[in-house]
Amino acid sequence: MERYPGLFVVFEGLDGSGSTTQVKLLSGYLKERGYLVLETKEPTNNLIGGLIRGQLTHEWKTGQECLQLLFAADRAHHLEKEIIPAIKKGYIVISDRYMFSSMAFGGIDLDMEWIKKINERFILPDITFLLRVSPQVCLERIGKNRFGFQLFEEKEKLEKTWMNYQKIKKEFPNVFEIDGEQEIERVHGDIVNVMDEFLKKDKKRISKTLSWYFED
Ligand SMILES: Nc1ncnc2c1ncn2[C@@H]1O[C@H](COP(=O)(O)OP(=O)(O)OP(=O)(O)O)[C@@H](O)[C@H]1O
Ligand SMILES: [Mg+2]
Repeated sequence: MERYPGLFVVFEGLDGSGSTTQVKLLSGYLKERGYLVLETKEPTNNLIGGLIRGQLTHEWKTGQECLQLLFAADRAHHLEKEIIPAIKKGYIVISDRYMFSSMAFGGIDLDMEWIKKINERFILPDITFLLRVSPQVCLERIGKNRFGFQLFEEKEKLEKTWMNYQKIKKEFPNVFEIDGEQEIERVHGDIVNVMDEFLKKDKKRISKTLSWYFED
């Protein structure tokens, strides 16, 4: 596979696992150390991302296959217009969710192999941080700590999603599971430890990134 001079870092986890919080903290940490950082997310804020959000907020309704194809189309556009150009310029791109979200969440109702297939042309992240937070804690964090059947159903869905993430972790390289139930700063500390190790190992690539930065 073609190697780009920058790095591609992705955060994954259940809803409410703290990915947005940790993307911001890691981005700040790296910027302070002189790295060029692009924070981004999926679904994107572009047109196709808007279609996906409309579906998630029940503004319109489509089937699971259509939804997964929209996620893949949004991703193709995201890669072409934002992620790959930034990586080529030496940026560390940090995305709040990417293709493993499609596989883990979409894999509840659809064959995960099909989701993998429609995503197989896309680059893999250099590092994925998978935040481990139990469905119960996730639901509490996002304010869904009520009782009843709906909650039970939601919890069961999150449990299945987490099992899918476990499969993904075994199958794909450089997926680092982080205990996301610790205090925010401790979670950040664990992430930074992995990130620093990775940057040390990849010194040649990163020093190239920095030299590009200073030549600009
Ligand atoms: N380690 C933590 N301990 C306790 N609360 C946390 C922790 N990390 C995040 N939170 C809180 O949990 C809530 C969800 O966090 P955040 O928005 O970062 O999660 P998310 O994974 O991005 O959620 P979503 O899937 O909804 O986008 C926020 O109120 C946040 O302040
Ligand atoms: Mg978020």
